[in-house]
Amino acid sequence: MSEATPNPQQDYRSPDVLVVGSGIAGCAAALAAAQEGEEVLLVTKASKPEDASSDWAQGGIATTRGDPDSLKGDIIEASANTADPEAVDILVENAAPAVREVLIDTLGIEFDTLEADADYDFAREAAHSKDRILHVDASTGQHILRPFLSHLSTLENIELLESTTALELIRHEGRVHGALLDTDPCGQPVFAGATILATGGIGDLFERSTNPAGSSGDGIAMAFLAGANVADMQYVQFHPTAVDIDDPFLLSEAVRGEGGVLRNAAGERFMSAYHDDAELAPRDVVARAVQDEIEATGAVTLDVSPLEESFEETFPTLAATCHERGIDFREGIPVAPCEHFLCGGIAVDGHGRTSLERLYAVGECAHTGVHGANRLASTSLLEGLVWGLRAGRDAAGCEPTPLETQQLRNSDPALPERFAAEKFYRLQTVMSAELGLRRTSVGIASARGDLRRLKGEVDAYTRTRTSRSLYELRNATVVAILIANAAADTTQSAGCHYLEDSDEPTAAEVGAN
Ligand code: SIN
Repeated sequence: MSEATPNPQQDYRSPDVLVVGSGIAGCAAALAAAQEGEEVLLVTKASKPEDASSDWAQGGIATTRGDPDSLKGDIIEASANTADPEAVDILVENAAPAVREVLIDTLGIEFDTLEADADYDFAREAAHSKDRILHVDASTGQHILRPFLSHLSTLENIELLESTTALELIRHEGRVHGALLDTDPCGQPVFAGATILATGGIGDLFERSTNPAGSSGDGIAMAFLAGANVADMQYVQFHPTAVDIDDPFLLSEAVRGEGGVLRNAAGERFMSAYHDDAELAPRDVVARAVQDEIEATGAVTLDVSPLEESFEETFPTLAATCHERGIDFREGIPVAPCEHFLCGGIAVDGHGRTSLERLYAVGECAHTGVHGANRLASTSLLEGLVWGLRAGRDAAGCEPTPLETQQLRNSDPALPERFAAEKFYRLQTVMSAELGLRRTSVGIASARGDLRRLKGEVDAYTRTRTSRSLYELRNATVVAILIANAAADTTQSAGCHYLEDSDEPTAAEVGAN
């Protein structure tokens, strides 16, 4: 792309800041940039902007309760000592002001309290040494995201476009100038002073995930293809307790925090044989233990009978969902691990800046270093909020530069929808078999071969077509290969990257010596 005037035949937009993605991180970035006086364009491929992972978050948002060092210690310990202490400092130092100023004072979110007008009902989740999680029932995400989106809709300098997919970033000489959107089949340019990616997770790469459909790693793939650095892509986190049905849904760690226990098919509690903290051990440990017990005994259930108050009273939304799906929670809820969160992503600094000028990344698609090899529960909303605000502020003040851009080719007839679905099926089969909870070097090597072949086929089609489903497939294959390559390069087990055939000590063992 050359620096010149835009193609005269092409319509374009030129906001100060383009934000891609409408979860908590994208909303926070848009808010902060708008507060700096910037014109912000927020685009989401979802037909309803609340269809983001943030809306599905259950447990809540971790806070420091006046003791940032204790939260920092728990984050680092849960990460098997691999989290970046400087990034964690940024998180814990900014947590209280971000939650207070944005969530409570600006959005008016009423987190659960012990009694009317009393202190907050801080919850406990796995690997937290204290009760410190603010929540609304166990459906905290929707109680944050929906007010956030409605607040943004009242701000005159934010425009929100739904059902709009970003296809490619516009890059010129190491600087990102915006993105091509699918509002034109050949890519409608948005020339932005700064571009902030907040595209969420990668659930579509696995057979079972707690993410909404459409979590195809778009931001990571676009950034990588434009030349940005990525980091820690091998660390894919599985949640231990998703309901074991075809269309799984999450049972928050908060259920175990309130006393729920895990039992195998013989009715035995087994977690204390795996970790001193039993059901409240770090997430990767519980997830592998649950998988082991399913394989050894046939099933694992979450027994909610030990909860102090009844399950319906403590978790009314989860109880209602169980009821809708025909699950009698009094019998114990069948659970199995499920892909949940990517700890790695686009490498960013403390302000969300990527290795490309004027490109930022925030939320799950970004790698801040906070999570290391395993994320502590209820830190993802907090990370999205803190880095979103920091990136939005930092991104202010750059002028958009319209350029002459090449149009994308959309010359061949559209493929039937089942084309992408079949290839996605192949991708998910490989990823679930070889890059899941337990990995082997042989399995990773074979996955890399399969994924490269798949990408070759997909690239042949995306060269001449721009449909959303093909681009999602392209993005998913790019991200899958990044995960497989990073897994192949990491010969030591750590957190979510667990190698069955490695003789090397794990990161936790090395840290303990
Ligand atoms: C949960 O509620 O267990 C999920 C929270 C999280 O992923 O941090």
